[in-house]
Amino acid sequence: MQTAFSEAAERNKRPILKKLHALLASSKSVLEIGSGTGQHAVYFAPALPHLVWQPSELPDKLPMLLRQCLLHPSENLARPIILDIDNDVWTSVEADTVFTANTLHIIHWRQVCRLFARVGALLPSNGIFCAYGPFNMDGRYTSESNAQFDIWLRNRDHQSGIRDIGDLQYQAEQNGLGLQENNAMPSNNRLLVWRKLAN
Ligand SMILES: C[S@@+](CC[C@H](N)C(=O)[O-])C[C@H]1O[C@@H](n2cnc3c(N)ncnc32)[C@H](O)[C@@H]1O
Repeated sequence: MQTAFSEAAERNKRPILKKLHALLASSKSVLEIGSGTGQHAVYFAPALPHLVWQPSELPDKLPMLLRQCLLHPSENLARPIILDIDNDVWTSVEADTVFTANTLHIIHWRQVCRLFARVGALLPSNGIFCAYGPFNMDGRYTSESNAQFDIWLRNRDHQSGIRDIGDLQYQAEQNGLGLQENNAMPSNNRLLVWRKLAN
């Protein structure tokens, strides 16, 4: 059984997990959005046995993700589900934590807004939303390589591109999420952590 492979996911899975250990210590159920090859899901789930990790993807990517999960089963790794940010109704997922890596610069801005609205509605008070990837700060790139990456992204799809943390923060606030951590990560990436505020 062949699986897809992402070199970036292979590189960043260890530093991300290091952060998740402390961050998700009280989490019970994690919904991962845009799981891609599933390398993160199969690596994180067995390392975080106190919670259930639910991977998800668009319909056309689900077979690839499912193959990865079947090859690397663990008791707390749920069978991947279809989840499209564009869908009005998300399946009956219940989660106290949402994780997504390298998606916010791929999806369009209207989808980013929709994602924050869905996550805000899904999470209970104190629930966590973690987003990993490249982000701009105060309207500026954090590195030359990110600036080049952004040009590449926008040439490929002009509605994609590296997002500014300030713009994300506005969406988060609109949906009851408060920024709790802004962690610098290797290769000019960041791990942003929002917490759902009490109603
Ligand atoms: C760059 S990949 C990141 C994959 C993985 N999270 C990683 O870090 O390796 C972006 C992922 O977002 C998913 N994606 C794109 N549009 C989406 C949407 N509307 N709803 C859910 N996922 C979407 C893609 O299918 C793709 O797997």
